[in-house]
Amino acid sequence: MIFYKAKDYQDLSRKAANIISAQIIMKPDCVLGLATGSSPLGIYKQLIEWYQKGDLDFSQVTTINLDEYKGIGADNPQSYRYYMEHQLFAHVNIDRLRTFLPDGMEQDSKKACEEYNRIIHEHGEIDLQLLGLGRNGHIGFNEPGGAFEKETHCVNLSMSTIEANQRFFESKEKVPKQAYTMGIKNIMQAKRILLIVNGKEKEQILERALNGPITPQVPASILQLHSNVTVIKNIGKQYI
Ligand code: GLP
Repeated sequence: MIFYKAKDYQDLSRKAANIISAQIIMKPDCVLGLATGSSPLGIYKQLIEWYQKGDLDFSQVTTINLDEYKGIGADNPQSYRYYMEHQLFAHVNIDRLRTFLPDGMEQDSKKACEEYNRIIHEHGEIDLQLLGLGRNGHIGFNEPGGAFEKETHCVNLSMSTIEANQRFFESKEKVPKQAYTMGIKNIMQAKRILLIVNGKEKEQILERALNGPITPQVPASILQLHSNVTVIKNIGKQYI
């Protein structure tokens, strides 16, 4: 495991964007596993800047996102499809047909999850998987529980996740109660994992994830078993 301490949020974003850029330059048709939430915003901003300078080409890149809320569509500003569109896709030369997220509007959970697993398998291995860390140790929307869920599944979001994500919604009641997420096996099959951790309130859970017992109670703890993980943690000024 490679561990970087970033001096502030901008430093974290640039270090992570450098790793993603290197992946795209080394393999222009790479498959990137992407994440949402507030932590990756600076990374996407940096990637757009380098694209605009002519340093990056997304034309052959495929992206497969970790998760999506169930019950909201691409035109809903709170959906992860909307987030990806506005924070990255609309600003670079990516082919939308190569960008994948679970279909939040599919009410049939079994169908939505099977379809997403099919998409993941069809693309073989993810070259680089970007991950944020939930306050309760979740990755994607794999919430703490009794077992590691293997593949894409529908989750009931925990109260702590609903509370953490309510800042993006008008009220707590408006936060969807369910989401579709890649499973732990899908994530662990990525060739390389890049975990970014921004925020003092995540220090303790990061410590448990990296040095505590490997348990589904702290889903990120499974990353201890992956052979190629890079962690970038912001230990300095917080700002987004
Ligand atoms: C959401 C996402 C996760 C993300 C987490 C942390 O729950 N499903 O993929 O890592 O939030 O988000 P933030 O970076 O805003 O703290």
